[in-house]
Amino acid sequence: MTEVTQPVADEHEEILDGLRGKPKQISPKFFYDERGSQLFDAICEQPEYYPTRTELGIMEDNLDEMADLIGPDVSLIEYGSGSSTKTRLLLDRLEQQAAYVPVDISREHLVSTAEQLAADYPGIEVLPVCADFTQPFDVPVGSRAAARNVLYFPGSTIGNFAKPAALELMKVMREEAGEDGGLLIGVDLVKPKDILEPAYNDAAGVTADFNLNLLRRLNREHEADFELDSFRHQAVYDEDQDRIEMRLIALDQQTVSIGAETLEFAKDEYIVTEHSHKYRLEQFAEFASKAGFKVREVWTDDEDLFSVQYLEAA
Ligand code: AVJ
Repeated sequence: MTEVTQPVADEHEEILDGLRGKPKQISPKFFYDERGSQLFDAICEQPEYYPTRTELGIMEDNLDEMADLIGPDVSLIEYGSGSSTKTRLLLDRLEQQAAYVPVDISREHLVSTAEQLAADYPGIEVLPVCADFTQPFDVPVGSRAAARNVLYFPGSTIGNFAKPAALELMKVMREEAGEDGGLLIGVDLVKPKDILEPAYNDAAGVTADFNLNLLRRLNREHEADFELDSFRHQAVYDEDQDRIEMRLIALDQQTVSIGAETLEFAKDEYIVTEHSHKYRLEQFAEFASKAGFKVREVWTDDEDLFSVQYLEAA
């Protein structure tokens, strides 16, 4: 399987730039090296992490209706495809699907998943793209003409973006979808702290490993010398901003080098590694309309923990 690889912007500069900030920060897209992608899959299995199983349940319960709205002969383009578990439900159900275009930043994971899907779905042309979808990228055109493009953006990955950046991304997706295209998107909802905080602080410590793996990656790929034992994971819910903030907190005052730079950490100083924004349905509908979409359908679970929404070009 040959994937199309889009040139990536200078990762090292982007990381250094974030670490020079106050507070220090690193984009969550850097979590997903091979080990990070596996740890993320393990997070999805944790009992406290409700999003994955809830979204999967919503998909299973409403697949017929989703497939009807999406229609036949589409090219399905998935942003941040990861292991594509939820996608299989769609691939099983969509009619005469022209192509499946998984887009992911983690090449090994992308290629192995794409190979598996191509073997399991011989009738669907699988065209993987290794790209950072926050940057413009070219969507490959398959050998069969598609009736239209439908973007699939599950997992509430939209939550990783600050609200203005999320709106910008929705606008780009609206362009990508085209005049009669659609967007099937998973959006996590605002809910009490006592459900949210445990979801990002699982008892087995998998989220902590996932977070700390970022430092391991910086050591390996960016000539850094972080001591993993000198940092701890924390995730807190900010009720004013409707978001989880994940941090790596320095246990003691320390100096770390990365490439040619030196970073000073005070005791308890932290690196912000992820924001996971939660939405209210009305607020998300407003976003959709500002981006040029209209909300055709919203599906939720019985407890209103999570939503899957189908948007169409307005
Ligand atoms: C992949 C961004 C949806 O925010 O819930 C899970 C990532 N981080 N646990 C999320 C994540 C820690 C996840 N998203």
